[in-house]
Amino acid sequence: MEAVIGKDIDKAKAFLEEGELVAIPTETVYGLAANAFDAQAAAKIFEAKNRPSFDPLIVHTSGVERIGAFARIPDELRGLAEAFWPGPMTLLLEKKDVIPDLVNSGLERVAVRIPDHPLTRRLLESLDFPLAAPSANPFGYVSPTCARHVHDQLGEKISYILDGGHSDVGLESTIIGIENGKPTVFRLGGLSVEKIEAVVGKVEVRAHSSSNPQAPGMLKSHYSPMKPVVLGDIGEELAKRDPREVGILSFEKVYAGVPRENQFVLSESGDLVEAAARLFQGLRALDGKGVRVILTELMPERGLGRAMNDRLRRSAV
Ligand code: TXA
Ligand code: MG
Repeated sequence: MEAVIGKDIDKAKAFLEEGELVAIPTETVYGLAANAFDAQAAAKIFEAKNRPSFDPLIVHTSGVERIGAFARIPDELRGLAEAFWPGPMTLLLEKKDVIPDLVNSGLERVAVRIPDHPLTRRLLESLDFPLAAPSANPFGYVSPTCARHVHDQLGEKISYILDGGHSDVGLESTIIGIENGKPTVFRLGGLSVEKIEAVVGKVEVRAHSSSNPQAPGMLKSHYSPMKPVVLGDIGEELAKRDPREVGILSFEKVYAGVPRENQFVLSESGDLVEAAARLFQGLRALDGKGVRVILTELMPERGLGRAMNDRLRRSAV
């Protein structure tokens, strides 16, 4: 099997109704989707990604009014649901029995998101089941932000890739649940902590633990390219090496002495939103070059820079 890339929602729908896998575009990253009510279909996701079954999936739907069929929104999270859906936010909700244990790894809660992408929203509206979808990359690798990325890595394992262009946000969703009665961030992502706090006040961020039982997928050494990533002062690290052997992923600067094609500048104007949208694309691009190591640096620790730093630290392990 070789996946077809196309924009045909009816084709995507037909495969999903047959219990097959379809890659779907979202504003965060591309997802690898299957019918969330069908354990056998969901099992194919774990197989295709080589993903351990203790790592639960996010369930995607087209509107808040459809969530009641499979989950319950706790009162403390209602304000966030209203403010940020559709968008790059996942909420941990009380699960109902229709969700097979495989989908949420037998936990009490199920992760739910309403993605903000026109093609995928139309697809979700046309289906009478929600879609379970993790990021469409092999387990542990960088998430895909365009159809080509998905095709390169999983093309032989899925039926259809719905092409919705480049993901605008470029970072996975921010995951929020309730802990000790309060909204808590379990994974930093495409919705900044500042925006969340503007709605619900100060929140705990519990996203840095390498063995976080709330989000098993938050293992260290996630989001890694194949090439080793060195995180630090790019200029200093460069001075220690042969400049022909390094790739550079910088926030805003170009470095002298290193071939320009081996450098990926995230945002020449220093814009964190633009930088976030290009981060995974940059890691992939440099991974594909004939260099031995990728040198990179931390972003300013604010806005989407926080989630970017989380991914950079993990990729550098
Ligand atoms: O932006 C995104 O969230 C993308 C797009 C496709 O929606 N999806 C995504 O899925 O990043 P994935 O599977 O790569 O990451 C989902 C994370 C994992 O770390 C998993 O452990 C956590 O969500 N998660 C899922 N269900 C959970 C649950 N019931 N309780 C705690 N964590 C959960
Ligand atoms: Mg993932």
